[in-house]
Amino acid sequence: MRHRDGPRNAFLPDAAATQALGAALAREFGDRAGLVVHLHGDLGAGKTTLVRGLLRELGVGGTVRSPSYTLVEPYEARGRTVLHVDLYRLSDPAELDNLGLQDFAPDRSWWLVEWPERGGGRLPPPDLRLELSYADGGRRAAIEAAPELRVRAARVLGTASGST
Ligand SMILES: Nc1ncnc2c1ncn2[C@@H]1O[C@H](COP(=O)(O)OP(=O)(O)O)[C@@H](O)[C@H]1O
Ligand SMILES: [Mg+2]
Repeated sequence: MRHRDGPRNAFLPDAAATQALGAALAREFGDRAGLVVHLHGDLGAGKTTLVRGLLRELGVGGTVRSPSYTLVEPYEARGRTVLHVDLYRLSDPAELDNLGLQDFAPDRSWWLVEWPERGGGRLPPPDLRLELSYADGGRRAAIEAAPELRVRAARVLGTASGST
């Protein structure tokens, strides 16, 4: 079934499809100075893989490391800072205040956050909420977007294979 605003989720058969979805996000929202993306999903669901595809599309070269231990890896891309954050190992939301993230206004930088639920409400609210889940040997991706971004979010999913 196609929803009024377009597809809400897509099947990602392999890691390349997950990276391609990240790249599609970068293309669709690349005109925005700021973007906050919350990435939900179990360990291994593909959150870091998606961020790799997104950063590559923004022109970031070299290795994109998972920030599981550093909690945050900053990148410079097209004149803005892109923060790749992974809060899996955060033991207390108050620790977020020690990461220096308050220097990066969410309307002028991009925040790509894995395990945002561990931030306990101290993160900037998401423009996009992505959910990755295991499905049929691959993954399923769903996106919820702020109302003004819904059509664009659906367009991103529509470019991924197997969207519904
Ligand atoms: N759509 C997919 N289908 C199958 N495997 C995938 C898919 N997307 C990512 N993977 C694989 O899943 C593994 C874990 O991915 P990762 O991005 O590190 O997960 P997370 O950051 O959510 O813990 C990687 O080996 C990656 O290649
Ligand atoms: Mg990860």
